[in-house]
Amino acid sequence: MQGNEPSLNRRMFLRGAAGVLGAVAAPGLLAACTRNDAQSEASPAADPDPGTAPENLDFEAPDGGGSADGLRVGLLVPTSGVYTTLGSAMVQGFNLFVGENLDAFGGRRIETVTVDEGETPESGVEAAQRLLNEEQVDLVVGIVSSGVALNVRDLFDQGQVPLIIANAGAGALTGQARSPYLFRTSFSNAQEGYALGQYMYDNVTEQGVYLIGPDYAAGIEHLVGFRKAYEEAGGVVLRESHPAFATTEDYTPFLDEIKEIDAEAVWAFFSGAEAVRFVQQYAEAGLQDDVPLLGTPLTDENWIEAQGDAAEGVRSSLHYALDLDLDRNRQFVSAYQAAYGVMPSSFSVQAYDAAQLLALGLQATEGDTSNMEAFIEAMASIEEIDSPRGAFTLDGNRNPVQSFYLRTVEDGEIVYTEDLGVVADPLN
Ligand code: PHB
Repeated sequence: MQGNEPSLNRRMFLRGAAGVLGAVAAPGLLAACTRNDAQSEASPAADPDPGTAPENLDFEAPDGGGSADGLRVGLLVPTSGVYTTLGSAMVQGFNLFVGENLDAFGGRRIETVTVDEGETPESGVEAAQRLLNEEQVDLVVGIVSSGVALNVRDLFDQGQVPLIIANAGAGALTGQARSPYLFRTSFSNAQEGYALGQYMYDNVTEQGVYLIGPDYAAGIEHLVGFRKAYEEAGGVVLRESHPAFATTEDYTPFLDEIKEIDAEAVWAFFSGAEAVRFVQQYAEAGLQDDVPLLGTPLTDENWIEAQGDAAEGVRSSLHYALDLDLDRNRQFVSAYQAAYGVMPSSFSVQAYDAAQLLALGLQATEGDTSNMEAFIEAMASIEEIDSPRGAFTLDGNRNPVQSFYLRTVEDGEIVYTEDLGVVADPLN
């Protein structure tokens, strides 16, 4: 493999690997790129700028030019498209931990540069190439979409650059296509889907479930995970549907199908703007009171307001709940709210914990990343991450083993309902 050739310069290789993946159309090279070297003029409370550290946290603004003790971190998140709100929560979460813990990075000063992942594998690959080749970052944190993560995997593995995935759940990345350079502080898609299977069987219905999620890796794998747990419990799935990702505006054909086959419950994976659309149309179709809607994430602090009454009663499982009864969580929520004037969500937590993982790795090597093998081994050896979601560990594939929680929307708020237990990736 080229990545093992000691004589090959890392940057030269990255250019080569980009070619192997197939060059992506040039115009998109103008993807948004925000260097975190300027403070926003707007108040973070009124208009949180995802590329900017909170002003009231005494965050040392990086100079963006690199320095002996600076570590350049690329934040690869969507700042456009259906997953934009997830991206801004992630940048805020990452910046919060850095701003609160400037001395926790083994003497290194964290400099960030944010690049737009966009919505498609093409936009994501282009953004990753830009971070690695032009911005010359030392490592990358982020990635919302499984479609993007799967397509940039080789750039990091072969280029020997660490990637801490703070959302995208594609199973292969911590399964058959795992790499020593890949870490995940979020979940695998099947793991997130698996969490509600037994609950559905015990508390909602033993048969007649309709499954739905968009037609790309995340939509497919979440359903595989749910189906596995539900069928293992003895449940019967009626049908599974996969509307086109990001382009489906009207879910009527699928909602009609739910009525036609007399489904007893629906389990769905939709996120960001797609979750807003689906939940609203579910209520408009008259299904809200008749056919219980469960799934993940479906509701989120970033978009619950946009969903309005349509979200009432929706049950979801995630590894985080805003009102989780833990001191660590209470501290986190109040610091986040003070910094940004908005509530955090699971996406903020995932990136906050990516910063924690980075800090723990750097502490172990006393800030030294010149021996990359030693640095990634140090991150892989971290025993536990003290997260607002509750402490969690990484499995041998570097995917979290963690508790999942049932959350129910009551009076416009997503309320912790019960602990669904610790769930590991059920497939790897
Ligand atoms: C994914 O593409 O892996 C993905 C996207 C949004 C989510 C979860 C997973 O909320």
